[in-house]
Amino acid sequence: MKTHQSIILLVLCTLSFTPLSAQQPQPVIFSEDIPAKPLLCPTPPMGWSSWNTFACDINEDLIKAMADEMVATGLKDAGYIYLNLDDCWHGERDADGFIQPDPVRFPSGMKALADYVHSKGLKIGIYSDAGSATCGGKPGSLGHEYQDALQYARWGIDYLKYDWCNTENVNSKGAYSLMAKALRASGRDIVFSLCEWGDTQAYSWAENVGHLWRTTGDVNCCFDCELDHGGWKSLGVLQIMDKNEKLRQFAGPNHWNDPDMMEVGNGMTESEDRAHFSMWCMMAAPLILGNDIRSMSPATAALVMNKDMIAIDQDPLGIQGLRYRTESGLEYWLKPLQSGAWAFCILNRTLSSRTITLDFADFHMFDNLSRLTFETGSHNYKVYNIWAGKEEAPSNKSRKVTIPSHDVVVYRLTY
Ligand code: GLA
Repeated sequence: MKTHQSIILLVLCTLSFTPLSAQQPQPVIFSEDIPAKPLLCPTPPMGWSSWNTFACDINEDLIKAMADEMVATGLKDAGYIYLNLDDCWHGERDADGFIQPDPVRFPSGMKALADYVHSKGLKIGIYSDAGSATCGGKPGSLGHEYQDALQYARWGIDYLKYDWCNTENVNSKGAYSLMAKALRASGRDIVFSLCEWGDTQAYSWAENVGHLWRTTGDVNCCFDCELDHGGWKSLGVLQIMDKNEKLRQFAGPNHWNDPDMMEVGNGMTESEDRAHFSMWCMMAAPLILGNDIRSMSPATAALVMNKDMIAIDQDPLGIQGLRYRTESGLEYWLKPLQSGAWAFCILNRTLSSRTITLDFADFHMFDNLSRLTFETGSHNYKVYNIWAGKEEAPSNKSRKVTIPSHDVVVYRLTY
């Protein structure tokens, strides 16, 4: 009895001397207690997303047509298996708080759409936001995380992109960890793609939270530009690459740096598209197409389905390539591959075509991150020119190489 009295007294004293603000609920920090994630992305995920071409103008007929085209064009067989709905599929929440799709755009419902996509041998992705509303103004998941994860699992969703608009006063690590826990409790294996644009350095803390994380702001369909939207900027291919390149130590199997969806086939020149695609492969980036694949040109199709280039992106070592040397507008990139092979890429950032004499011996180097050596001293590598599609003289011979403006030459060297 005496003990009870003293506890009550202690509580009263504490309350009466505690300032009101300190009595407010304190934020819960979620981090170390997240269950291990399902290992769904041993190599960077590949697929298609609605955003870059269609923005908010999506509906179930369009998504079904894309599923058909992913099979008919050969994209699925080339490895592009995720068909991702981005923003604006949403309707309202029902009386119990469960999110519903827009009834006009998706009259058959999400379960039926997921079943259709699965029947094609593809997987389906969906989009939400950690804040009160998505970037497109649709309902966000804040306060509904477990309910939303459960709903996605019931529908048969395989991939969630989770955005970062309207998140004032939300703690990023807490919010993304909360959704990670909700997904893991949902009963379905779901790839978790963080999209906080690198603003809160997800790359440095999200290895157990998600499978990929955006490292930059939104891509803009241009090779070398920045577009000011007042308050935020979208970035060209080179601008994104320059930011993503610095983060290679954070990427690896099941936790990828994501320099955003691709703009290949959306209006850049063929050289620029080739350079864009090649650099995403050199950086072991997720390969998420953003073009209208119903009207994809043969040139774009050949580019994004180049097996040798995709193999560089999908190499099982999962090591993001490095920019090894920059010389008057030309960049030399290397990426270690399995079995002692290397990808070697020359990127021409300039507005004029360049011809050089290339001697691989000048690029002998030890990569501190992978602890692997580009051994041009003792090894005479076999040299395959990927975009030319042909074997060249071995690496101990020098060669003349022309790299057109805003283009690349990529080699695979095997020993
Ligand atoms: C943000 C994301 C984009 C896209 C849009 C949708 O800008 O970074 O990738 O998802 O929202 O509104």
